[in-house]
Amino acid sequence: MTVKNICCIGAGYVGGPTMAVIAKKNPQINVNIVDINQERIDAWNSKDLSKLPVYEPGLADIVRDCRGINLFFSTKIDEAINTAEMIFISVNTPTKTYGKGKGMAADLKYVELCSRKIAEVAKTDKIVVEKSTLPVRTAEAIKSILHNTGNGINFHILSNPEFLAEGTAVQDLLNPDRVLIGGESKEAIESLSKVYGSWVSEDRILTTNLWSSELSKLTANAFLAQRVSSINAISELCEHTEANVNEVAKAIGMDSRIGPKFLKASVGFGGSCFQKDILNLVYIAKSYGLKEVADYWEQVVIMNDHQKRRFSDNLIKTLYNTVSGKKIAMLGWAFKKDTNDTRESAAIYVADHLLNEQANIAVYDPQVFEQKVLNDLNYLNTRTERENAEGIYSASTPYEAMKGAHAIAIMTEWDEFKDYDWQRIYDNMKKPAFVFDGRSLLDKEKMNKIGFEYYSIGQ
Ligand code: NAD
Ligand code: UGA
Repeated sequence: MTVKNICCIGAGYVGGPTMAVIAKKNPQINVNIVDINQERIDAWNSKDLSKLPVYEPGLADIVRDCRGINLFFSTKIDEAINTAEMIFISVNTPTKTYGKGKGMAADLKYVELCSRKIAEVAKTDKIVVEKSTLPVRTAEAIKSILHNTGNGINFHILSNPEFLAEGTAVQDLLNPDRVLIGGESKEAIESLSKVYGSWVSEDRILTTNLWSSELSKLTANAFLAQRVSSINAISELCEHTEANVNEVAKAIGMDSRIGPKFLKASVGFGGSCFQKDILNLVYIAKSYGLKEVADYWEQVVIMNDHQKRRFSDNLIKTLYNTVSGKKIAMLGWAFKKDTNDTRESAAIYVADHLLNEQANIAVYDPQVFEQKVLNDLNYLNTRTERENAEGIYSASTPYEAMKGAHAIAIMTEWDEFKDYDWQRIYDNMKKPAFVFDGRSLLDKEKMNKIGFEYYSIGQ
């Protein structure tokens, strides 16, 4: 089937950048991204490109080049489904917050709603592509919904998980390590391969059966997160033994069997997917009665929670066991640099813990603003919205955030933090001036020389 029109349901962190790149590389295809969230669609359509709902280096340029030409954002879901030969489902699949599997299983209600919508409105044959991250065997349920409409329309289901990382989404999409396509229909697989083939070489387009593709996505995230938890576990041991975790990471990473990536000790991994996907994997393993498998992977999340907790515990202990009434400056709120995404960011949990201890927190993040910080904390329901607003605020400049602070906590590895005037910051802080570097971002020697009491993970 020649694809001339693509519809993508879900204009989020995956749908937006992925479809923008597909449109850019396939000028002959019209790409319609649709969403139920009018505000998000309006933001994608905003004239001022700095107001796009997703901040990613390089994304605004692509949107500027393609929007209104072969890339469109709208809420007209039925229309976009009908005109498309290929439909991507790229909606959120968060951890369930209710009922069976609460706190573990993926909530598939949005995916099911999309499938039902497609079944309801489609008038011609469609290729339906799972772009969202889904539990293995989800395609079975989608097939069951789509194949039982009784209207004679043929649907082919493909699994095409996305491996982009936020902050580098555009680069990852332009130069993917691999594109994975799982499916049963050779023709449908070829149609999707052709879309990617516009810019991805054939040897990087991998095809598998549906179930391997679905499970590979969860497995890839589990392996990546497991490396971070492994090095974070070693960081705690380093702090007790005078070994330096950065030196250990370098030493082991030079072993080509281990490799250097994803060995950066940190205050804990965040982001919308690592925890969600591992918990989902744990739930799936449990549902097949595989206790040892489930326990093994669950430990990755347990270690990560421990890492976040011990960062705030260390801070409080070092500040003479109390932060009550003290000003703590938090540099960074996003879960990693070069994104405005804050989902599951370690900063949220560290701040929550410090607020329990009655700290006064000032946050500075170049891409995250006050309302998002408050929303993240309010979502935890630890205290009232008013109490959160009284305990934490976003400063408009980093220097304002750190002025008069007892301690600074570096939560995100934004490059600009390295270039601040650290002497000026020191001069304006309470003494002793403490820095807790959750990202090993700054130079310990330089910070000590200025006079800071500087603590870094795993050193
Ligand atoms: P997101 O929350 O940013 O975007 C999802 C969008 O889907 C939202 O705008 C929401 O309004 C929309 N939506 C939900 N239900 C809908 C419906 N019935 N009809 C129309 N629109 C609907 O989520 P995301 O970060 O883009 O993630 C989407 C999926 O991709 C998830 O399964 C996630 O695990 C996976 N994924 C995410 C990343 C990432 O970096 N964020 C990377 C790889 C895979
Ligand atoms: C991750 C994967 O890298 C992507 O391949 C995947 O597509 C995506 O999840 C997803 O499914 O959502 P992302 O979460 O955007 O991407 O970003 P990562 O670069 O993986 O970082 C995740 C978290 O781990 C961040 O908080 C980061 O700071 C932390 N991290 C990463 C470390 O603490 N140390 C490291 O060495 C690497």
